[in-house]
Amino acid sequence: MTEPRAILIRGARLLDPARGRDEPGDLYILNGRFAEPPPAPPPGAEVIEAAGLVAAPGFIDLHVHLREPGDEDAETIETGCRAAVRGGRTTVVAMPNTRPPMDTPDRVAGLIRRAEEIGLCRVLPAACITRGRAGGTLAPLAELAAAGACAFTDDGSTVPSDDVMRRAMEQAAALSRPILDHAQAQDLERRGVMHEGLYSARWGLPGIPSAAEVDIVRRDIRLARETGGHLHIQHVSAAESVELLRRARAEGLPVSGEVTPHHLALTDADVRPDDARWKMNPPLRGKADRAALVRAVEEGVIGVLATDHAPHTAAAKARGFREAPFGVIGLETAVGVTYTRLVVNGRMSALDWVRCCTVGPARVLGLPDPALAPGAPADLVLLDLDSERTVSAGEFRSKSRNTPFEGWRVKGRAVRTFLGGRTVFME
Ligand code: DOR
Repeated sequence: MTEPRAILIRGARLLDPARGRDEPGDLYILNGRFAEPPPAPPPGAEVIEAAGLVAAPGFIDLHVHLREPGDEDAETIETGCRAAVRGGRTTVVAMPNTRPPMDTPDRVAGLIRRAEEIGLCRVLPAACITRGRAGGTLAPLAELAAAGACAFTDDGSTVPSDDVMRRAMEQAAALSRPILDHAQAQDLERRGVMHEGLYSARWGLPGIPSAAEVDIVRRDIRLARETGGHLHIQHVSAAESVELLRRARAEGLPVSGEVTPHHLALTDADVRPDDARWKMNPPLRGKADRAALVRAVEEGVIGVLATDHAPHTAAAKARGFREAPFGVIGLETAVGVTYTRLVVNGRMSALDWVRCCTVGPARVLGLPDPALAPGAPADLVLLDLDSERTVSAGEFRSKSRNTPFEGWRVKGRAVRTFLGGRTVFME
């Protein structure tokens, strides 16, 4: 799409958490950056009448699986980026559990190059903590950071060895990169496929106890205290993990966490044991866990909403609940599901919700606070937060369809997304 270099957006509701602003106003984009709005549109400028829409900094998603290389039948960098910008994201952190995994500087640099060629969305690679994501020996963290890795994680599994994790945190701290941990003890995870509780017993499915997560969160916080490294717990699912995070943050430790739309919206009671669209890792937990997660976001203990967008083919998900891979997609439903659950339901303000999608994740990565401020890159999303829509996977830009939200009525969707002033999605 060829684009005028000047765009005037008039009469939007500006949600700019970095500056604490929630007010109607105009935005002006000049040569890819925000600039002071002129009193009248300059000749040749595109004018967007945005009354009734919200304008917010482009969302940052700390947890996305793009599947390339290795599983391009489920997603590619390009289809993942298309899904991301349709979901109002302008930056995504790509998980390293590709095949082969992101544990060499060449692969990290290759991902950055490919994403830049596509040019739809900023893709920040998270690289492996350990070689081959196998948990045994550290990957070359300094070289990976130099190649552009924004963080380290063995997502899909934790690092079982305390010693390896401690050294990873020390090195990551020296490189000013966070460690993102998929906190789940492998001996407690066993061969579980859903939360261990009433429903796993009812369905006769092997369970994963909350303790699998809580034990590793406790260990990781201890290591963060000892090393001073930034620890970020991925997809927090259990109430007890929230309490550990709350105490660690009260202690002043550099510890953060994220929560997914599915853990905020669903519980193990929703699991359909004949349908692996409700199978993900960590699993959907109980009502008290979900309530604790909502409270954690409301109170700012967890300041990041992240999707854990995990595409899988229909064939893989059709293998049955025990055998199908873990994971649900989320890029194109996150805005609607989280806005409806958190803001429409009266748990938090729209401004705080935007903060969890922008400033919160930026701070984990050590990026400047995204803002609708003159001089900042014009990464921007225009949102319709008022009209209700039905989730329909048939409309997704993602290659995959594994969502548990099919048919849900939700409020809130992106209608236009700009990356550096360029339109990368328009409804
Ligand atoms: O549900 C999940 N799917 N959890 C993970 O940790 C990995 C992810 C995937 O890669 O499919």
